[in-house]
Amino acid sequence: MQIRKNTPNHKPVRKAVIPVAGLGTRLLPITKSVPKELLPVVDVPAIQVVVEECVNAGIEEVIFITGRGKGGIEDHFDFNFELEKILEDRGKFEELSRVRSISKLIRTIAIRQKRPLGLGHAVLCARDVIEDEPFMVVLPDDLIGSEPSVTKQLIEVYEKYGQGVVSLMPVPEEEVSRYGIVTGENWAPSLHRVRTIVEKPEPGISPSNLAVIGRYLLPSHIFEYLEELEPDESGEIQLTDGLSRLAKERALVGYEFTGRRHDIGDKLGFLTANISYALGREDLGPKVLAYLRKKVAEADGDG
Ligand code: UTP
Repeated sequence: MQIRKNTPNHKPVRKAVIPVAGLGTRLLPITKSVPKELLPVVDVPAIQVVVEECVNAGIEEVIFITGRGKGGIEDHFDFNFELEKILEDRGKFEELSRVRSISKLIRTIAIRQKRPLGLGHAVLCARDVIEDEPFMVVLPDDLIGSEPSVTKQLIEVYEKYGQGVVSLMPVPEEEVSRYGIVTGENWAPSLHRVRTIVEKPEPGISPSNLAVIGRYLLPSHIFEYLEELEPDESGEIQLTDGLSRLAKERALVGYEFTGRRHDIGDKLGFLTANISYALGREDLGPKVLAYLRKKVAEADGDG
């Protein structure tokens, strides 16, 4: 299938699937009892940052694919009448309005993935709610600071070409084995016709350095492919395998987004995200910068 501009009659993108059922083993022990999606980016849970990204891109409904111990995520987007009453009685109106605005952000649905059978299986759990519409998949581990957001950038590419789109980022050669890496042709600035996706290739034999990052805009056909997949040797159904079939049997656009990405499912990424977002805040930025400068000067002095 050719990728052409202005494919007519495609449906609007109204829904986003946010899988949150993973175990978060890279961040143990905190993730033993705290969902990593509720860990803070300064004073906001990471999940709120990505939900706001969806809202600002025009998404009307988010579908959380949840697992054991993740109930706090739904609660965060629900009203908390007891807290609101206390804040009101105490005259804390600014806090009250902040807390209420989160509850009003967007309509949410939660679907339980009863066993962590992989990201492909998690996405498949949303099939009945998505029906035959195109939809976003947003991985809350990937925080990407950009204007417009990557979700918005992907929707714009989809509106032009009417095909599934995955977000791509060039990574250093020594890191390719941590990602799904695409093969394909670059046919316009930032745009690639994806042929296959190779999961975690060895450096040196990787087909490219373009990694798939956690924002996908998918047609509902993806469910047909996911449903037919067998679990891999680790017992998981991989989204990557479904995407490769989509690329082969229909079409898949790879889009090199602009923006700075932090993997907050990883300790270092979690820390850099917090520093980066704090530096961008008017109330904290100058103080954090002064602190960092002091630490660098001390380290240089030590050296
Ligand atoms: P990861 O591969 O990062 O796994 O999942 P994880 O369990 O979250 O974290 P680590 O690697 O053990 O530290 C990528 C995304 O897919 C979701 C996760 O919640 C995360 O958003 N996921 C993964 C599911 O929803 N279900 C699964 O069975 C697996």
